[in-house]
Amino acid sequence: MELRNRPRRLRQNAVLRKMVRETRMDKSSLVYPMFVTEGRNLKEEIISMPGQYRYSVDRMEEKLTELYDSGVSSVMLFGIPAQKDELGSGAYASDGIVQKAFRRAKEVCPDMYLIGDVCMCEYTSHGHCGVLREETVDNDQTLKLLAQTALSQVQAGADMVAPSDMMDGRVLAIRRKLDEHGYINTPIMSYAVKFASSFYGPFREAADSAPSFGDRKSYQMDYHNRREAWKEAMLDVEEGADIIMVKPAMAYGDLIREVKERIHIPVASYSVSGEYAMVKAAAQAGFVDETSILCEMAVSAYRAGTDIYISYFAKELAECMDQGMIG
Ligand code: PBG
Repeated sequence: MELRNRPRRLRQNAVLRKMVRETRMDKSSLVYPMFVTEGRNLKEEIISMPGQYRYSVDRMEEKLTELYDSGVSSVMLFGIPAQKDELGSGAYASDGIVQKAFRRAKEVCPDMYLIGDVCMCEYTSHGHCGVLREETVDNDQTLKLLAQTALSQVQAGADMVAPSDMMDGRVLAIRRKLDEHGYINTPIMSYAVKFASSFYGPFREAADSAPSFGDRKSYQMDYHNRREAWKEAMLDVEEGADIIMVKPAMAYGDLIREVKERIHIPVASYSVSGEYAMVKAAAQAGFVDETSILCEMAVSAYRAGTDIYISYFAKELAECMDQGMIG
């Protein structure tokens, strides 16, 4: 039979398959999100995220070292304060939980690249991502506090800041504040394309940050929207963002691709807590193979165009790359 094109020719053996592989990944693009909490000698498992923990500052070293040794050289820190208030003052306190964590991390693992999630929801008593005026989140008042939060994280040792609050104008407000204090070279990774998503459920248990009333739909994006994703990405590029993030990752590969094609700066995507929880639960039930599923999910994000992948499976992914399963 005459058949000139036989795609199977290039699939005959592993060497050839790898030679023609279109998506290449590297451990240097992985970021691990890590929760730090007040208290001593704590490593508390997060119920909805088996295998993930909240660490007290004095227990961070073991995790940071383990990550670094496996080739994950960047972490994003989330602080869980002992007390919350209306104005989320723990977010920008110089001795706040995440500020203490940055100082400690720099001490115990100086080569680890440290990213700060900049938001108020872990610190406010009402669980919203900004300050309230009656029942709504006041955008412009919140900007000042976010800028202050970013500055305090950088002063404590954060190498990069990542605003996740979805207030309008926060990238510019943070850029100005950092520049005023001389931090002209600290990059901003903006959670620009962040959807109001049920995939964040387990995170809210982990950080005790579920809103006490209402939802986040007046600031996070409606997941029916595609053009709005470009709008958000473009606005943040204009405001001075250095990296644009799409979040969640798994159900949003189309938008990773769109953003990648339309902007000229690096694109990150965040495989969020619900993605992790679903894989874990299904694997524990024996319904899927955990390792192959997490590889497939990560590769799909890279194939869609992500340059940076933020994942609770960062260490496992690094190991899979070492073993040549992916990469
Ligand atoms: C803070 C923040 C959230 C996540 C990252 N930063 C929660 C939210 O917006 O409700 C979610 C991360 C995850 O689900 O893993 N605003």
